[in-house]
Amino acid sequence: MTDRILIIDFGSQVTQLIARRVRESGIYSEIVPFNSVDDALLENFAPNGVILSGGPASVTWEESPRAPQKVFEMDVPVFGICYGQQTMMEQLGGKVETSDHREFGRAYVDIQEDCEIFQGVWATGGKEQVWMSHGDRVGKLAPGFRVVATSEGAPYAVVANDEKRYYAVQFHPEVVHTPHGAELLRNFTHNVCGCKGDWTMAAFKDQAIAKIREQVGDGKVICGLSGGVDSSVTAVLTHEAIGDQLTCVFVDHGFMRQGEAEQVVDMFRNQYNIPLVHRDASDEFLSAIGDSVDPEVKRKAIGKLFIEVFEEEAKKIGGADFLAQGTLYPDVIESVSFTGGPSVTIKSHHNVGGLPERMNMKLVEPLRELFKDEVRVLGEELGLPHSFVGRHPFPGPGLAIRIPGQPITVEKLDILRKADAIYLEEIQKAGLYDAIWQAFAVLLPVRTVGVMGDGRTYDYVCALRAVTSTDGMTADFYHFDHEFLGRVTNRIINEVNGINRVVYDYTSKPPGTIEWE
Ligand code: XMP
Repeated sequence: MTDRILIIDFGSQVTQLIARRVRESGIYSEIVPFNSVDDALLENFAPNGVILSGGPASVTWEESPRAPQKVFEMDVPVFGICYGQQTMMEQLGGKVETSDHREFGRAYVDIQEDCEIFQGVWATGGKEQVWMSHGDRVGKLAPGFRVVATSEGAPYAVVANDEKRYYAVQFHPEVVHTPHGAELLRNFTHNVCGCKGDWTMAAFKDQAIAKIREQVGDGKVICGLSGGVDSSVTAVLTHEAIGDQLTCVFVDHGFMRQGEAEQVVDMFRNQYNIPLVHRDASDEFLSAIGDSVDPEVKRKAIGKLFIEVFEEEAKKIGGADFLAQGTLYPDVIESVSFTGGPSVTIKSHHNVGGLPERMNMKLVEPLRELFKDEVRVLGEELGLPHSFVGRHPFPGPGLAIRIPGQPITVEKLDILRKADAIYLEEIQKAGLYDAIWQAFAVLLPVRTVGVMGDGRTYDYVCALRAVTSTDGMTADFYHFDHEFLGRVTNRIINEVNGINRVVYDYTSKPPGTIEWE
């Protein structure tokens, strides 16, 4: 079995980053909420080491969360972070107190003694930057522990029990503001836990294929393709596992970008030989939206029709036992609440929500353990072109939410597609594509007067949007140079009939959103 680290989540905002750091160092890891970890899970998972995350509760409260005691009876190394450190101390016989000296943000720790997790990173006598976020702190050490680093607000900033291989820190090593944090975690997982760091995407792929085969048997699987990376990788991976037991259904709503629908069909049908149903439903989608201009009305109309068309196509091919979909890890992690048990916040980005129950299908979700950038690596491992797996995100309702405030027509979709293609082509040419999270054109419901040649024009305004972001939750507008924007503007006005003015959107998120609708 591959080496694996179990992360027990106490509800910190940054628990996902612990998993990221561990995986980046080549070790498989999973996050499980503290109240879902039982003895059976611990035995089945058989971790090489356990990490206890931070969290918003206070160990001093009655009924505050605890790690299962079995964690400390399994003879595996344990690493506690912030709340994880405090509950570890309390559970092993130490004491936690509420401190007047809270620390939030950047702080410095003094390295007092040598320690296994400091190897090659921090030396005794040094002063090192960390990121703290705590009110409580350890007041009395559990037996067997020694203090190896201190800070002004946390006299027990890092503690160690070398014999048991338990280490615990008050700060957050998983965030980038602790500059050596990733190395400290690596020392724990590699040196203390003895993990080899050989978890690769190739290994993941083989395991995923075996798992799909085992789950599906000789059942039939259907997969909705959207043209996006997640559904495409899901489809190719599933096809490698079970071949033509898989049929892909591409419901083409007609709101795709220039050349996109053709690319999806060509790639899946011709290059991968995956059975593909391509349903061109663009007329139906246009009439479902009708003259609506309200963004929510449009989104709901598109979502509803999507399910209906998908279901129709699924029935035509004789139904399926399983629905494969590209759910990612951030969509499935349960966020932990301390009042009414776990509050399950599962974002469903997928357009086929509700279908599995309606059609009595089970779910195949081979990406549910991966982060977005890991999916991209897996995509390349499966032979998908870099230009495809590295594509910017594209919203489910497509261009229908990029023609705001006006009825959508075939003509306007056409104008927008051309402007958008020129903009993206120039971004590619300038080598900026990978530095930008998302870039696109928006067709505004305004016409302005212009002059071209000797004639008067009265055409649409197009807005250009480009943002940087790490997760789409917050975003900053992209700082193009003026030359670049001038060049794109000229090309759009010269080459796209129907647009005579171009503006750039300088709004960040918040207060704006990335899309205009
Ligand atoms: P906003 O506009 O909310 O967008 O700042 C954040 C990210 O989500 C994408 N987005 C969607 N993705 N279905 C999707 O799959 C949707 O309905 C949808 N709406 C917005 C948006 O493109 C950006 O990347």
